[in-house]
Amino acid sequence: MAFKERVFSGVQPTGNLHLGNYLGAITKFVALQETYDCIYCVVDMHAITVWQDPAELSHATREVTAAFIACGIDPKAQIIFNQSQVAEHAELAWIFNCVARLGWLNRMTQFKEKAGKDRENSSVGLYAYPNLMAADILVYRATHVPVGEDQKQHLELARDIAQKFNVDFAKSIHAHGFGEAFFPLPEPIIQGPATRVMSLRDGTRKMSKSEPSDYSRINLTDDADAIAQKVRKAKTDPEPLPSEEKGLEPRPEADNLVGIYAALSGITKADVLREFGGAQFSAFKVALVDLSVAKLGPIGAEMKKLMQDPLYIDSVLADGSQRAQVLAAETMKAVKDIVGFVRR
Ligand code: TYM
Repeated sequence: MAFKERVFSGVQPTGNLHLGNYLGAITKFVALQETYDCIYCVVDMHAITVWQDPAELSHATREVTAAFIACGIDPKAQIIFNQSQVAEHAELAWIFNCVARLGWLNRMTQFKEKAGKDRENSSVGLYAYPNLMAADILVYRATHVPVGEDQKQHLELARDIAQKFNVDFAKSIHAHGFGEAFFPLPEPIIQGPATRVMSLRDGTRKMSKSEPSDYSRINLTDDADAIAQKVRKAKTDPEPLPSEEKGLEPRPEADNLVGIYAALSGITKADVLREFGGAQFSAFKVALVDLSVAKLGPIGAEMKKLMQDPLYIDSVLADGSQRAQVLAAETMKAVKDIVGFVRR
């Protein structure tokens, strides 16, 4: 069966949004709205898999919403909402808890990293997180999911869950008139020069909200001075930039900065090296500061403006969640029939 093409993706409202979230995910969200119906979700239920201060959680939820809008997602044409307002995500996640296998979850590297040595003390939610993520996508029967490289394994798990559901319930799916398969196998969209933006302090570590040093990342709300300082202080090596991409391979910091430049200006790394090959980092960093400030400055300013009107933000989330729920409820009705739940 051909599925209606639909994009879904989510961002956690935890800490500051940074350049990695922007280049790895949000710029893709913006581009995809030209060709697809898109649903973009602030995943507050994922956020609480580790402790969140309640006041900060609602602030961060509004801030991610503001970022979506400030980056150019049209909340009228697309759906922007927060996960907890559509209960069907949790409902489908329970069914997926019963479809996914322990062995599958045990392989998830993100859980291992986040739980660390204190695994016994992690929340059950953190462990079952990928099942909720699969439910987020599949409750809309979404076909395309733009994400950064770090979410690839979770996407593979979502495909495995969809596949197993389709096989386990094949007869019932057929009997209820849904043909061969009820869920699509969602395709990850992981493309371009910045699918894994690295820390500015260490080119071997991912840029992340949880890294203690704020100098490791550029936040979407950083002003021009902060951006300039962080780029100037970014770790580099003593060699000039190479003229070809191969020369970046053993140089993670150089590779990262060139990738950031390429993604921000919408060109390839090879193009960047054609322009800057042989240049010293001091010169390249000046250009990178100018570019970063030109691209991110207006976004940060717009986010601040939007954040002054929380009623507007909340109205976007309310409207988006109503529209999302119509779609999610339709899927859940079918899922209940397929699974054999008696319903009204
Ligand atoms: P989260 O909130 O950690 O990150 C949001 C998006 O940003 C991407 N990203 C990066 N991309 C490139 N370089 C980086 N350094 C970097 N850091 C983060 C992430 O890959 C992600 O696309 N589990 C998800 C949220 C989620 C979701 C979903 C995504 C929940 N349900 C359903 C897609 C579909 C997460 O924690 O993303």
